[in-house]
Amino acid sequence: MKILVAFDSKYGNTKTVAETIVDGMEAIGDINVTLINMKKVDFKKLDEYDAIVMGCPTHFGKATRTAMKFIERLGKTSETGKPIATFDTYFKTDFEKAVKKMEKKIREEISGSQLLLPSLSIEVEDMKGPILEKELPKCREFGKRIVSQLKSEF
Ligand SMILES: Cc1cc2nc3c(=O)[nH]c(=O)nc-3n(C[C@H](O)[C@H](O)[C@H](O)COP(=O)(O)O)c2cc1C
Repeated sequence: MKILVAFDSKYGNTKTVAETIVDGMEAIGDINVTLINMKKVDFKKLDEYDAIVMGCPTHFGKATRTAMKFIERLGKTSETGKPIATFDTYFKTDFEKAVKKMEKKIREEISGSQLLLPSLSIEVEDMKGPILEKELPKCREFGKRIVSQLKSEF
């Protein structure tokens, strides 16, 4: 099973979340995970992957433009849709989280997409981080849960 984990990150916190998700996935084993910056994804090779996990920071109560464009491109590239999971980081709880926008966009843009829910939102301590200590185990669990869910479907 091949999984693509694609992140967008300005200060590195969302990248750390992505890395920790991958740790959790690899703890289950018997999978091949590619961790990559969203901007570097080769859309010609997307067919190789069985599932896509994507995440970005929350900016102004939204997902980043890079993440929204990534979803648009996914919609144009993958005809059938693949299982897809989303995660974000955020600083203040009183805004809407990026995952909500990504979920909506995925439903709109990718026909046949299967959202692996629930999405993961990870809190950072300040604008530039770091990630709150209590949050990291959630990232590992998220990675494990995705692999278990996929394995039960394949
Ligand atoms: C331009 C900008 C806008 C932001 N807007 C929000 C927001 O609306 N809600 C929120 O919770 N955090 C907001 N933040 C805080 C980010 O979510 C936080 O910096 C981010 O999670 C860090 O992730 P990164 O290190 O991967 O860039 C904003 C940060 C920036 C730079």
